[in-house]
Amino acid sequence: MSRPPVADEVSGLRARIAEWRRAGLRVALVPTMGNLHEGHLDLVRAAAGRAERVVASVFVNPLQFGPGEDFAAYPRTLADDLEQLAGTGCALVFAPSEAVMYPQGRDGTTRVEVPGLGDMLCGTSRPGHFAGVTTVVAKLFNLVQPDLAVFGQKDYQQLVIIRQMVRDLDFPVDVRGVPTRRESDGLAMSSRNRYLTPTERRAAPAMHAALQAAAEALRAGERDFVALQQAGMDNIESAGMSPEYFEVRRQDSLAPPAADDRNLVVLAASKLGRARLIDNELVELD
Ligand code: PAF
Repeated sequence: MSRPPVADEVSGLRARIAEWRRAGLRVALVPTMGNLHEGHLDLVRAAAGRAERVVASVFVNPLQFGPGEDFAAYPRTLADDLEQLAGTGCALVFAPSEAVMYPQGRDGTTRVEVPGLGDMLCGTSRPGHFAGVTTVVAKLFNLVQPDLAVFGQKDYQQLVIIRQMVRDLDFPVDVRGVPTRRESDGLAMSSRNRYLTPTERRAAPAMHAALQAAAEALRAGERDFVALQQAGMDNIESAGMSPEYFEVRRQDSLAPPAADDRNLVVLAASKLGRARLIDNELVELD
């Protein structure tokens, strides 16, 4: 199976998409930062099931990394990514340089920000992170002008924020979320799992186990959200991780839920060695 072609300039990207548009084909976008794993390939396959042409972008976006975060260390593996994309239905990879994406420089570029939603949960410990995400995703939407775009549900807060941006700015893009792909012990697949030492890797599934326990308790009728959140933090800590948050929220708005809310999500983030892990469990009652 052959690797998809790569466009690294806007002109090449637009020329290819214009051909597809003239032929009346639907176009899907799967934004990524590369270092692809099966979770990303699920996104591409889901996109290929809904559009005739899929563009995957590979760009390690500096705007979404804070000072002291892993921007420099983030694995850049384009040749391997292209191998993995062969046979998934990806028609084109857009892999721009930073100069192509931000010709005015990182600090000089226009920003897109979703206030409120971007400041809670992961936004508390990563100020500016979600503004970096929405800025690059807005730009990719304008460059590709896709009919639909596919994101992983592992970054659940990111998905909610992108949906809000699409509503607020009237992007004509159908945003789809795809369930999290997991290792056999439950750990959510992530490019950052490679930072874990063997001992940390053995401890890491504890966060998913804690999320599942909370989800089960909610399904069984538990409504003491504060107690559930505390138990989740304790479970993660006793597995040797440093929990950042463990929260029960509403799926649509990420607001704290009322006792009669039916569509909930339990979200957690914790530090484990060099890695910062995030995960969530969706809970639909009834
Ligand atoms: O989820 C990611 O990998 C990134 O946040 C995204 C959406 C590709 C934007 O850089």
